[in-house]
Amino acid sequence: MAVKIAPSILSADFSRLDREIRRVEEAGADLLHVDVMDGHFVPNITIGAPVVKSLRKAAKIPLDVHLMIDNPGFFLDDFIRAGSDIITVHAETVSEKEFASMSGTARSAGRRLGVSLNPSAPLDMIKGYLQYTDFVLVMSVNPGFAGQEFIPGAIDKVAELRGIFRGEISVDGGINDKVAGRVIRAGADILAAGSYIFGASDVKAAIERIRNAK
Ligand code: DX5
Ligand code: ZN
Repeated sequence: MAVKIAPSILSADFSRLDREIRRVEEAGADLLHVDVMDGHFVPNITIGAPVVKSLRKAAKIPLDVHLMIDNPGFFLDDFIRAGSDIITVHAETVSEKEFASMSGTARSAGRRLGVSLNPSAPLDMIKGYLQYTDFVLVMSVNPGFAGQEFIPGAIDKVAELRGIFRGEISVDGGINDKVAGRVIRAGADILAAGSYIFGASDVKAAIERIRNAK
């Protein structure tokens, strides 16, 4: 099956999000990746649940909300109520036990919860989470900013994960037409990409290039 593409609105024009969403939807985006940063877990601040709520009204495709925040359990209900379809939290910020409980909350609200890990974190760190998670998001840059260079170590991590995990694997950070093929061959199902897609003059062609990368 073709990989899904999740444009990250972090690289969109924030003064025209409605128009930017339509631009990627018309170009064939499968999900809208929404980067939430708190200035604690990562050295940058972006948006919170009120903006997610507005995005939900503007977007037809599912919202893939990536929480790069400390204490995500405290905010889970807010992001569910705001209309997030898919929510990712970092293993660095929640214990296995807390993740298991959050997974129950998300599933009973009809949403999907996933776990992510930073490039420096070994796969061992999330092995205990796999039984509760709907998907894994492998970071291929250090979270905090768009436009960084892809960290190649993510490829081996995806391949190893593919061997032990049957759910969806998403890869996020530094995705472009040069690296997408290797990421897909390693076993990724979803590619999140910000600057490569929103920076393109022909967004549809950019999406197709990474979706069909060999
Ligand atoms: C990084 C974010 C990514 C980022 C991707 O902290 O989680 O989703 O927006 O942007 P690019 O594709 O430009 O690396
Ligand atoms: Zn992200």
